[in-house]
Amino acid sequence: MNKQPIGIFDSGVGGLTVAHAIKQILPGENIVYFGDTAHLPYGDKSEEAIRSYSKRIAEFLLEHNSKVILIACNSASASAFEYLKKEFENRAIILDVIDPVVEYLKTRKISNIGVIGTKRTISSGTYENKINKAAPSSKVVSLATPLLVPMIEEGFIFDDISNAIIRAYLSNETLAGIQALILGCTHYPIIKNQISKFFNFNVEVVDSARIVSIMVRDILDRNKLLNENGGGDDKFFISDYTPYFEKIARMFFEGEINLKKADIWC
Ligand code: DGL
Repeated sequence: MNKQPIGIFDSGVGGLTVAHAIKQILPGENIVYFGDTAHLPYGDKSEEAIRSYSKRIAEFLLEHNSKVILIACNSASASAFEYLKKEFENRAIILDVIDPVVEYLKTRKISNIGVIGTKRTISSGTYENKINKAAPSSKVVSLATPLLVPMIEEGFIFDDISNAIIRAYLSNETLAGIQALILGCTHYPIIKNQISKFFNFNVEVVDSARIVSIMVRDILDRNKLLNENGGGDDKFFISDYTPYFEKIARMFFEGEINLKKADIWC
């Protein structure tokens, strides 16, 4: 089973930030990535829609023999994690991007934590509920910041437009007094430095990609499923292809990438 790939999925190519971190922490693993570009954005969809998309994608990743299914998308983690665990836990290890961050924060003892993410992630209350349970002394506030995804995809990064949008969101009084801010969306690591700068580097900006990858490594190790000798056979699929996806995929993966269309919806 060790040689089987790690399956990763997202609503689109933003989840490649997580795939990139996995490749850095686990260079010997092969990955199969699926980006549901035909249905993005998930951040505006209902829980029911995201669950049904996620189910089909999980089946696709299992058809590719994945030993792990990692939900890289925060909106899907918030809506479909428990559901996928129930459906597929007997066939692969099912992981999300929210629980590892909650585990990490439990050890940090931070009293005021902020979360930003899509409308779906924030309205689900998943981060708040899980942190409240794991670290009851931490106060959690959250804010939907939906404009950040198209802003990043359109390449507005470290310029006047992105500074103005980031300022407009992060100066919201909901976030006043936070000591840590969770980047609850696949895209936000791209603007992590800008966000840190907004807070004059006084707020810990928590980027889940690395935290999640370390947890995946620990879980594989514990289950004796680590592959240290692979790494050369990664596959990247998307459900709808345009050259635009290819272009932005390079930004998220920080390197050349070959996307293949897989029409899993017919
Ligand atoms: N991948 C999504 C997330 O992390 C952001 C993009 C979308 O809304 O589909 O929530």
